[in-house]
Amino acid sequence: MTRIPEIDTSYVNRSRYLQAAAYADLDLLAVEIGLGFRRHWISIGVTTEVQLPGSALPVDAAGCPLLMTRDLSGTLHVFHNVCRHQGTRLVDAPCRRDTGQIVCPYHSWTYGLDGRLRATPYWDRTPGSAPSPEEMERLALLPARFAVWFDTVFVDLSGTAPPFEEWIAPLASRWSPFDQRELRRVVAREFRLAGNWKLACENFLDGYHVPWVHSQIGAPATGVNYSALKLSGDLFGAFMPQGETDKPRTADRLPSFPGLPREFIGSQHFIYAFPNTLLALTPDWFQVFSVFPDGVDRCVEYASLYLVGDGALAPECAAQRDEFIRQMWLINEQDVALIAKIHAGRSSPASDQGSFAPYWDELSAAFHARIGRLHGSLQTGI
Ligand SMILES: [Fe+2]
Repeated sequence: MTRIPEIDTSYVNRSRYLQAAAYADLDLLAVEIGLGFRRHWISIGVTTEVQLPGSALPVDAAGCPLLMTRDLSGTLHVFHNVCRHQGTRLVDAPCRRDTGQIVCPYHSWTYGLDGRLRATPYWDRTPGSAPSPEEMERLALLPARFAVWFDTVFVDLSGTAPPFEEWIAPLASRWSPFDQRELRRVVAREFRLAGNWKLACENFLDGYHVPWVHSQIGAPATGVNYSALKLSGDLFGAFMPQGETDKPRTADRLPSFPGLPREFIGSQHFIYAFPNTLLALTPDWFQVFSVFPDGVDRCVEYASLYLVGDGALAPECAAQRDEFIRQMWLINEQDVALIAKIHAGRSSPASDQGSFAPYWDELSAAFHARIGRLHGSLQTGI
């Protein structure tokens, strides 16, 4: 018989329960974008998307157009996807540029995938003319501060967030037994949700809905054995020692991370990284979602699924891979339908009379408290 962990329920008196306005108010969304997305480490995609030299991937990061590139020498870059001349968005869709160049659609200023400005046609009326070398250097694409971890590209648009390694350290330490070099992305997908972005994050942290919304996974009794992990103010989630519920385990023939300690075998982690990253890690698969608001009542999720090791990509594993992907997308499609219903109710003032369920909602309360601090920082400036 598995021991049921103790859950701290004292949060009920400590946490602020976000009110309906938090899901409907444009001013609060502006705070979340301005003080949250623009000042903290947000995930924008994964390096596998730009694996090949010459790749370019535009990302709309909450109204801030960014561009991930892999230059012809294989170096990864993240730039503002904005021409240094009149500010036009440079790249509209994922593409390969074997010439190593990006041409602005407005006046044909041309940049290398390394960001350097290479051409400014008819600069002084004559073909082939250009500003001084110093001016050309100054007008390179504006780089964004970024870091890569578990294949995921994190960006700090302010340039003033704490060092990435410092911010991620509590989770990096916990996940150090998982060798991230073994990750093999098998599929990616974009989901558009009819709900506030915060609901996608809250629902990820909610284990209580799983036996009902995803009844194909297991009965309610399988979901009760979890521990809340509060790794830092920005990093928290659930650890399921036996991983009985929510996302499926893959069949035994798909490989696992080598050399895992005993406590992680058969386990599942579901970790929220404030503000927009949802991470799930098990011995044989990994999932990352980046969530972006699109107005108060819509959001977008960029999802990538990974298996472990080259063996997982072998032809004889094709059937298990397909089944794994089918199950994972089914779960998310069920959540997408659910979030529209949650949004419709949660944005009504009547939801202010709602109440947390003490055993289950510690992580929801932690999320509300984190967003509440963000809203509060409008007044306090922190
Ligand atoms: Fe779910």
